[in-house]
Amino acid sequence: MNFEFTEEQEMIRQAARDYARRELTQDVMERDEKAIFPTKHVKALGELGFLGMMTDPKWGGSGMDTVSYVLALTELAKVDASVAVIMSVNNSLVNYGIETYGNDFQREKYLRPLADGTAIGAFLLSEPEAGSDATKQRTTAEDKGDYYLLNGTKNWITNANSASTYLVMAQTDPTRGHRGINAFIVEKDSPGITLGPHEDKMGMRSSDTHSVMFMDVKVPKENRIGEDGFGFKFAMNLLNGGRIGIASQATGIAWGAMDLALKYSRERKAFGTEIFNHQSVAFKLADMAVKVENAHNLCLKAAWLRDQKKRANKAAAMAKRYAADIAMEVTTEAVQIHGGYGYVREYHVERLMREAKLTQIYEGTSEIQKIVISREMVKGL
Ligand code: CAA
Repeated sequence: MNFEFTEEQEMIRQAARDYARRELTQDVMERDEKAIFPTKHVKALGELGFLGMMTDPKWGGSGMDTVSYVLALTELAKVDASVAVIMSVNNSLVNYGIETYGNDFQREKYLRPLADGTAIGAFLLSEPEAGSDATKQRTTAEDKGDYYLLNGTKNWITNANSASTYLVMAQTDPTRGHRGINAFIVEKDSPGITLGPHEDKMGMRSSDTHSVMFMDVKVPKENRIGEDGFGFKFAMNLLNGGRIGIASQATGIAWGAMDLALKYSRERKAFGTEIFNHQSVAFKLADMAVKVENAHNLCLKAAWLRDQKKRANKAAAMAKRYAADIAMEVTTEAVQIHGGYGYVREYHVERLMREAKLTQIYEGTSEIQKIVISREMVKGL
């Protein structure tokens, strides 16, 4: 077993780290405060090839491996988790979904601009009454012959305003339950689509989250992905990989907070010495390091399995479950080490703590991950 990264993986990690430290840090606080979408950074990430990291170069992507993706996402999330989630949704859900399950017409028309960084995508599964219980889709897609008619509302959609391409799950035949759900590629500027107001979130404030309403939206039949009724399986398969991205994001948030706490503990003096010299602080930092290392290793294991074309569902759910929870713990301890300074904006750790909370909620709560893990265990996987 070899824990070393290849030269290419190291280069990608370094490129992400440099970009995060040089560029993202400059305006991250303002973007958080005013909830400004990071347009220029998304463009720059596209130019670095980070918006289509694992997509085949044949479709405009960078053809990198999943391990490199984990490394890049983690580095970006150390500084700005909003940028990381935009990239994660684009890569793990939208690009992967169209590349793996779409056809060449769909890949050429929709995947290419998403993968080459000139467009971004959004994944529309959640609804007002179908969050964790995703089989209960109320959005309908009525089969009208050569098109489907979409009606309904989607909630909590990351990239809803900035995306040009939506992947939408909708119920075509309610009598068939989850087997009646289909997945569609929908152009955001289609007539009949309206967006709810920008959600004023606690954290990840510069990613744009909205609800999306569909009223008699015509979707050409050729935009359905896969066989009739494949939509729910499609969404589940995407989330199996999406969890690696969110786990890496959560790990990056925890890591960023740990780095800040370590730095602060070497500068701040109390009782005649740097606070790092007090075991009450040093032990907290040691515990943080163990958690961050474990979370990172779980992400890398899930990524490696995927790169080997092996089943990674359990590993990805474990990574997501663990990384999200330790992100909350580590950021909370980082605020504690900073004392009063941790509770004000200037020191960044309160922002990281707000960001960590969302990783325990989206792409499945910890309880959802436990369902996935235990079901894989029953199957002996
Ligand atoms: N992988 C592949 N297929 C799966 C699967 C998985 N992990 N989990 C279930 N399925 C399949 C099952 O095999 C079954 O198919 P068959 O009937 O053909 O055998 C079908 O899906 C239905 O499965 P269940 O009856 O087991 O469904 P369930 O209702 O008991 O549970 C669930 C399913 C795992 C709880 C699922 O609803 C789920 O994952 N919920 C969470 C949804 C979620 O994560 N939403 C996040 C929104 S996206 C987001 O947050 C993006 C963002 O903005 C960052």
